[in-house]
Amino acid sequence: MSIKTATVNGVATIEIARPEKKNALTVAMYQSMTEALNAAREDVTVRAVLISGQPGIFTSGNDIEDFMSRPPGQGSDALDSPVFRFMRALLECDKPVVAAVTGAAIGIGTTMLLHCDLVYVADDARLAMPFVSLGLVPEFASSLLVPQLMGHRRAAEKLLLGDPFSAEQAVECGIANAVLPAGEVLNHARRIAERFNALPPGAVRESKQLLRVPQHDQVLSTIRSEGALFSQRLRSPEAVEAFQAFFQKRKPDFSQF
Ligand code: COA
Repeated sequence: MSIKTATVNGVATIEIARPEKKNALTVAMYQSMTEALNAAREDVTVRAVLISGQPGIFTSGNDIEDFMSRPPGQGSDALDSPVFRFMRALLECDKPVVAAVTGAAIGIGTTMLLHCDLVYVADDARLAMPFVSLGLVPEFASSLLVPQLMGHRRAAEKLLLGDPFSAEQAVECGIANAVLPAGEVLNHARRIAERFNALPPGAVRESKQLLRVPQHDQVLSTIRSEGALFSQRLRSPEAVEAFQAFFQKRKPDFSQF
């Protein structure tokens, strides 16, 4: 089981649990997470959602094997793929989504945080969006939201150079709320999520919507335009070289492009 779900004390938890592959996310895992988000939305006893990984690893991002063998379709098909459905469910979740991040949060591991409401990072967290290094482009509105959060220059370090950044930097640039010791971050995030049990759910829901409405259309249109390019890039010789290099445990060679 690579995604563990449970509902405890008003909090629906989604735990990414594939430590042997550094929590890389497969098509099946996106499907499980989508179902869990949709179920949380329907369940009136759920007041918040909590997403977490394993000690030392939040997620190493999309499974690179899946990128090669089961990439999202192209054109309008891309928007119907499991990863898009998952991100859509996250965007449309009308209950607060809290994330507890331990260890590496790579690629979609960082991108998904941009769409969570409250993000707590362990002192060992290391975030990265190395899309360009993989021959890809930013995804799920990161090309819109990251520069908005931190300005173009710092966004360029993260989105063009793919520089990883620390938990402190994640807080400083507005991606995360607070840094906690690694052993405490999950319990802290859970306590925060449980605070919604004492708040009026209708007011929380409508307030969350108000926070998101001003950007909603722009976020969706950016996701569509990034998605079209991303799907093409997954099939590009640059990306194929990057993926093969990863599995061959060598540095990619882009000199021929
Ligand atoms: N997709 C598929 N498999 C992955 C993976 C991914 N995103 N990330 C890690 N794995 C696999 C490795 O291939 C390895 O498998 P193996 O034991 O069969 O050889 C296993 O998980 C352990 O990974 P490894 O790289 O040996 O661990 P590490 O501790 O040295 O490094 C990471 C951890 C997360 C830094 C490193 O695995 C990594 O950079 N992963 C890829 C990140 C990435 O580019 N993601 C895509 C973003 S769009």
